[in-house]
Amino acid sequence: MVRGRFAQKNCRVLENPLRTGNFPCYNTKLNNREGVNILPKNLLALSDLGVQEILSILEEAQYFRDSGIFPHLEGKIACNLFFEPSTRTQYSFCIAQNRMGMRVVSFHPESSSMNKGESFYDTVKTFDSFGVDALVIRHQENEYYRALLGHVRAPIINGGDGTGNHPTQSLLDLLTIRQEFGKLEGLKVAIIGDVRYSRVARTNYEVMRRLGMEVVIAGPTDFLTPAYIDEPVDTAISTSDVVMMLRIQKERQTLWQRFTTEQYHAAYGLTAARVKRMKKNAIILHPAPFNRGVEIADEVVECEKSRIFRQVENGVFVRMAAVRRAVEG
Ligand code: CP
Repeated sequence: MVRGRFAQKNCRVLENPLRTGNFPCYNTKLNNREGVNILPKNLLALSDLGVQEILSILEEAQYFRDSGIFPHLEGKIACNLFFEPSTRTQYSFCIAQNRMGMRVVSFHPESSSMNKGESFYDTVKTFDSFGVDALVIRHQENEYYRALLGHVRAPIINGGDGTGNHPTQSLLDLLTIRQEFGKLEGLKVAIIGDVRYSRVARTNYEVMRRLGMEVVIAGPTDFLTPAYIDEPVDTAISTSDVVMMLRIQKERQTLWQRFTTEQYHAAYGLTAARVKRMKKNAIILHPAPFNRGVEIADEVVECEKSRIFRQVENGVFVRMAAVRRAVEG
């Protein structure tokens, strides 16, 4: 009897955050329509982040890579919702989350209630209501996340939105470049190929210039946008420190039908002959997936100057840093 009264008076009743919506790890600034006050540490576009914050994510990713010491996020649950196909982004997030001890839920739209007409918003809102700690989302709509802001509690990490942004790809590109040259400022980067429809190009163009890098764009005129500086492919390749090749985004445009594979490769592809004309210490990047024999020659993919699989390795560490930032702030 006495013990019972004591317990009632002095013991803190543990709330179930799933029921109350009080997730203690988040600040409370934004109001949503259900009265949930949350300011999650989203990663939507690198243009939202200052230079110092970008550099600190790179530092953290480099530390994970060098030390093999990772954050412990046991007990946290990540949900990866990919509404567009992905290999590198989807599964490197998954590997990163697993390495940090998180439990991972992977959503596959084709086997979900979206087939019964459920909307994107209601699908994401449902996963948020399960009480997950981070949502990694890729979607074909530019800025799909606008509809979610203020309506979901969990932080959103953008795994790519339409032709808009691909923040973790740019971070892993920057990390790979910095590992090679020990700096970013002052380097010249050529982005070559289907720039108009590339979220990788858009994100890199903005952030690299902010970091003091020179960025030139080259490729078929139709694939560029007037806002970008254009340089002939051969000039761009022979004068840059970093040559970043892009695949043709056949899922977003039909301009590629103007070229045969051979024509495109000869005019704009990174051939072995062009690699020979690159600067001595220059490197080759490609966000992948790459099409061997189209924008890049088969033998160039793993040549001495290529850092394409180094990019894939770095993706795991960058995504660890992005998830840790989202979950712990
Ligand atoms: N680079 C990239 O985003 O690859 P995936 O489409 O395979 O994720």
